Amino acid sequence: MKPDGAEPANAAENNAASGAEGRPPLRLGVLLSGRGSNFLAIAESIRAGRLTSAVIAVVVSNVAEAPGIAKARELRLPAEFFVSKGRSRAEHDADLIACLRRHRVDLVCLAGYMRLLSAEFVAAFPNRILNIHPSLLPAFPGLDAQRQAFDYGVKIAGCTVHFVDEHLDHGVIVLQRAVPVLDSDDEHSLAARILAEEHLAYTEAIARVVSGGYEVRGRRYVRRESADLA
Ligand code: GRF
Repeated sequence: MKPDGAEPANAAENNAASGAEGRPPLRLGVLLSGRGSNFLAIAESIRAGRLTSAVIAVVVSNVAEAPGIAKARELRLPAEFFVSKGRSRAEHDADLIACLRRHRVDLVCLAGYMRLLSAEFVAAFPNRILNIHPSLLPAFPGLDAQRQAFDYGVKIAGCTVHFVDEHLDHGVIVLQRAVPVLDSDDEHSLAARILAEEHLAYTEAIARVVSGGYEVRGRRYVRRESADLA
């Protein structure tokens, strides 16, 4: 990656979107720590033209060997990592902020990023950070949400895409998708069913943010068409 943030030649091929109505596409910065299936779903949505007016500007990990980073490189997308282990949150997040600014990121998408963000990070991208969580928030925040839901015995589980604030799994909800919990499920089959919905939900949520057709009223995300009627 060149320090001026220029993309390698092939990045454009994996970022098929162009700006709607002459606007430049929104530049996404994807943060991940692991396998990266949500990142890949977003990348595929852009490639296939399901998510227009957005490009992946950079994929960033706090784990050098995260499979998601290897996949980003395979797709010839800009990919960087900053090892967080042993560093203070402030130091690490300052590096992340600088990296995202270097790549001119407009919207940060947390996709299995397993580290809390500092208040400074959240303030650097106000209402410009999305997270996906594998439960119907506010139920089951934190780690192992699918197992928490399974063990609790809920009959409906699902996933949530929300804006990120300073609190864990707490910000304004953009959208949720529900799945039934079957009698035959174990926590793994339930997690797989939720994951399939996550892959749809993240693209839809990004499309909503890209469209700009919404407002945030307190804790409520309201789509503009509904807002106009109110
Ligand atoms: C997903 O279940 C997501 O909801 C949670 O972490 C997991 C990441 O999976 N925040 P992947 O790395 O996107 O496959």
